[in-house]
Amino acid sequence: MTLLRIEDLRVYFNARGRIVKANDGVDLEIEETEILGLIGETGCGKSILGRAIMGLLSENVEIGGRIIYKGENLLELCEARMRQIRGKEIGMMLQNPSTSLNPVLTVGEQIAEVYRYHEGVGKEEAKKKAADMLKLVGMDPKRMDEYPHQFSGGMKQRVMIAIGLALNPRILIADEPTTGLDSSMKKQILDLMSGLIKSRDVSMLLITHDLEVAKGVCNRIAVMYAGELLEIAPAEKLLSEPKHPYTQDLLDSLPRMGLNPIPGESPSLSSPPAGCRFHPRCRCRSDKCSEKHPDMIGIEAETYVRCFLYKNDKSKG
Ligand SMILES: Nc1ncnc2c1ncn2[C@@H]1O[C@H](COP(=O)(O)OP(=O)(O)OP(=O)(O)O)[C@@H](O)[C@H]1O
Ligand SMILES: [Mg+2]
Repeated sequence: MTLLRIEDLRVYFNARGRIVKANDGVDLEIEETEILGLIGETGCGKSILGRAIMGLLSENVEIGGRIIYKGENLLELCEARMRQIRGKEIGMMLQNPSTSLNPVLTVGEQIAEVYRYHEGVGKEEAKKKAADMLKLVGMDPKRMDEYPHQFSGGMKQRVMIAIGLALNPRILIADEPTTGLDSSMKKQILDLMSGLIKSRDVSMLLITHDLEVAKGVCNRIAVMYAGELLEIAPAEKLLSEPKHPYTQDLLDSLPRMGLNPIPGESPSLSSPPAGCRFHPRCRCRSDKCSEKHPDMIGIEAETYVRCFLYKNDKSKG
C-alpha cells in the first residue's frame, strides 16, 4: 500500500535571476513499511526532495506538483496543519546533526521539547519519555543532561534518530544519516535504524550519496540525476542489474569496484542539457538522446528507467 505519493514535483529556486530547477518532475511513492533509498551525486536535488515533503523550503521557491499523504496534498496545507504533520506523521533527520542539534540545550531537553510541543505533556513526563527514547537508541539515559558537543558523531546521530522517531511517525526521512562516520559506526547506526523502522512499522526514505549505505538496508532504490529520477527498482535488482547507464557508472565508481569516477561533471540545474540530462556524459548515447527528453518507462515488474535504450512496457509519468 502506498503511504505517500509524490506527483510531478517541481521545486524551482530563483537565484539572482537564474531559475535553479532543483526537482523537475519527480514521481515517487513511499510504500508502507518499506525502506526506500534515494541516491545520486552531490547537488542533484535529494535533500530538496526531503525538505519539500516536510514543507521546509525557503521563501524564494516555486513549488509545483502534488505530495499526497492520507488523502491530503501536503503542498496545499497551511503552516499550522503542516506543523502537526511534521514529527508526528513524518519524522525527519536533517542532513548534518551538528547543525541540526541546538548547542545550548541538553540532548534530553531537545527530545523532551518534542513531547511538550506536540503532546502538551508536563516537564517531568516529557523528561521520562525522552529517557525512554534514549534507551531505545542504545544510549545511557544518564547522559541526557549533557550537551551535543559532549557526544561523538555516532552518538549525535543516535540522538537524531531518537528525535526523528519520538512521536512514532509513519514515515522517517533520513538525510545522509551516516555521513562523517567510520565504516563500523556506519553499520551500527544503519542496523539500529533499520531495526527500529521494522519493529515500529515505519517507512523510511533514506537519502544518501553512499551506495554502500543504501545497499545493506533498502527495499527499493531511486536514482536521481540533475533534479529528476532516472531509475527506480527493487534494491537487489538495481544493484545487480542496473539498467540506466548512469546507475551502471555510479556502481562502477564505488571504491570496491576500483573507484572509476564518472567522467564529466553534473550539469547546471539552471540550464540542464537538452534531451536526456545525462547524455553529455553517457557512454551509450545516440543522436536521439540530445534531441528528445526520455520519459520514465516501466520495463519490468517494479522497474522504471528513463532511457531510450529500453522499450516501454507500461508508461509511468
Ligand atoms: N535556496 C536555494 N537557492 C538556490 N539554489 C538552491 C537553494 N537550495 C538548494 N539549491 C540548489 O539545489 C540543488 C539541489 O540541492 P540539494 O541540497 O537537494 O542537493 P543534494 O542532492 O542533497 O546534495 P548533497 O549530496 O551534497 O547533499 C543544488 O544544486 C543547490 O545548489
Ligand atoms: Mg543533501
